[in-house]
Amino acid sequence: MDARQEKPIGIFDSGIGGLTVAHAISKVLPDEQLIYYGDTAHLPYGDKSLGLIQEYSIKIAKFLIEEKKCKAIVIACNTASAAAYEYLRDELKGLIPVINVIDPMIEYVIQHNSIHHVGIIATKTTIAAGVYQEKLKRRKPSLLFSTLATPLLAPMIEEGFVHNRISQTVLEEYLNHKELSAIDSLILACTHYPLIKKEIDAFYNQQVLILDSAEIVAAKLKKILEHERLISLGTKRKDQFYVSDWSRSFEETTKVFYGEKIDLIEQKL
Ligand code: DGL
Repeated sequence: MDARQEKPIGIFDSGIGGLTVAHAISKVLPDEQLIYYGDTAHLPYGDKSLGLIQEYSIKIAKFLIEEKKCKAIVIACNTASAAAYEYLRDELKGLIPVINVIDPMIEYVIQHNSIHHVGIIATKTTIAAGVYQEKLKRRKPSLLFSTLATPLLAPMIEEGFVHNRISQTVLEEYLNHKELSAIDSLILACTHYPLIKKEIDAFYNQQVLILDSAEIVAAKLKKILEHERLISLGTKRKDQFYVSDWSRSFEETTKVFYGEKIDLIEQKL
């Protein structure tokens, strides 16, 4: 047996939105120990510069690798994936697998021939970084895509505003945008958005395929761990959830994202 197999999987996001990905991972890999880090002190990442997000991301990655001994890292945030994935991969020099949330979604979209015109909604930084656009264009030039920055959605969801009049108005304002008028599918390119997937689906009367990365990324991670022979064979150890700034409201909101109550530990880096 390889000792690395029993090490945990590190997952990080700017806040607690990445818990939607962590939850999907816990379903697909129930015996793995997860160490989650939400950088709540620096949230939102969605309007920060690429350089700053890279600085935050490498600190978190080092915490997960050096202190928590993680065997793989999942960047459970589109903004950090767009801004810092390649930087992290270069800095970590292949030490452990690093998985982002963008590439598995690109793979999924290009393999589905029923998708002809895909919309992408995300934070300002994710849209401005152009990573989805560049990868889709390169991998499938015939595919049409339209993008829209929807910066109010993540803070709104993080505050727990998900099923009320305000959230409905904000969402409709964005989805009625002419950029998105001819799409047949929509990528929720922010790990917070699965929380309003039902409302988005209802807006389109179930006529648009709504794509969120949580399950696709979890399946990809499983494949990588199998390929690298890193799947745990031992008994499940307790997951740990860290944030850079603890608040009661974060802890209460976690239940919405993770499906069950979790205790957050404050860990400044
Ligand atoms: N969860 C992050 C993402 O997937 C966005 C939230 C933020 O702006 O920090 O893009």
